[in-house]
Amino acid sequence: MAVKSLRDVDCKGKTVVSREDLNVPMKDGVISNDKRIRAALPTIRLALDKGAGVIVLSHLGRPTEGEFEEKYSLKPVAAHLGKLLGVPVRLAVSPDAAKAAPGEVVLVENIRFFKGEKKNDPALAKKLASLGDVYVMDAFGAAHRAHASTEGAVREAAVACAGPLMEAELAAFARVLDKPARPLVAVIGGSKVSTKLGLLDNLLARVDSLIVGGGIANTFLAAAGYSVGASLYEPDLVPEAKKIMENAKAQGKRLPLPVDVVTARALEPGQKATVHAVDDVPADEMILDIGPKTVALYEEILADAATVVWNGPVGAFEIEPFGAGTRALAESLARSKAFVVVGGGDSVAAVEGYGLADRMGYISTGGGASLELLEGKVLPSVAALEARAVN
Ligand code: 3PG
Repeated sequence: MAVKSLRDVDCKGKTVVSREDLNVPMKDGVISNDKRIRAALPTIRLALDKGAGVIVLSHLGRPTEGEFEEKYSLKPVAAHLGKLLGVPVRLAVSPDAAKAAPGEVVLVENIRFFKGEKKNDPALAKKLASLGDVYVMDAFGAAHRAHASTEGAVREAAVACAGPLMEAELAAFARVLDKPARPLVAVIGGSKVSTKLGLLDNLLARVDSLIVGGGIANTFLAAAGYSVGASLYEPDLVPEAKKIMENAKAQGKRLPLPVDVVTARALEPGQKATVHAVDDVPADEMILDIGPKTVALYEEILADAATVVWNGPVGAFEIEPFGAGTRALAESLARSKAFVVVGGGDSVAAVEGYGLADRMGYISTGGGASLELLEGKVLPSVAALEARAVN
């Protein structure tokens, strides 16, 4: 279903309220990755260019509602946003204090400081919606939350629409989930099958090949009858992994398992890492990466792909020497002609760390939200935007 776009809304002389996800990593008041702030800029600039004043809403972290806590303040974000936009951004202490004349940008303090946000309180939703003439839900990263600023206000606003960021995110995932150019390959890594069961089930039904890595692959290896030594895996999920493998076979889908792996005694930097065939994992060692033959096997499948979705690293990439598999796949996706969507915090961090972000088709700003979309769930904010597109 379609959503209304800010591009099509008249904003001249009006106030636009834009819910962004400016939930950026921060340490001691210093922003360590400003990707989400940069991703919100086109929306704010569009509203300004259309002649509006802009009130920006966002959350930061998970503070206790009703309590101000300095470490969750958006103050550093306001300063950084102002620098990037080239206009001063005032921080309003509460929604009641937020007013923006045309050309002005005001950021309201962390919306999760205010009671009713997480419970989607109708009174707060109405208040947020009434701060302006147009309500933009652009916070894809928080679109899976049915909160007052992400869902309630969309229903209450006089005019509700999506901003360019939300549109780009939805368009990228639609290219994977709706009518993908085929072959469609999903690369699903990360530590636990239990956190990605819904995603594995939903994607298997859509893809041509499903590639697994990380701790997830260990559970699949155990399900295929291999001994995984001291590796992290989920014995309880072995029956589920078996079922997924059987389904893949029945549906004629490829679900290749690692043929060789990198093992070590402990997940610690500088450990001696050795490559073993998958049927030769030492009992006292853990699998921490895919091996070179597996990389070649996976690369061969990816070379044919027309669409790829990647969620989760295939090894303990953040600790050397266990990052080679993830790096090799990232490099091969960077070279690929396929439309590649990367979603999920760790795979995005890996791609950014290797300096390959610009060479992917789309890098999502959403962690949990992208996961839920790939699980086939309807995101509450998106459902609200779709409903508002017709009334
Ligand atoms: C995220 O970082 O995934 C989003 O900003 C959502 O944050 P939340 O999980 O605290 O709702």
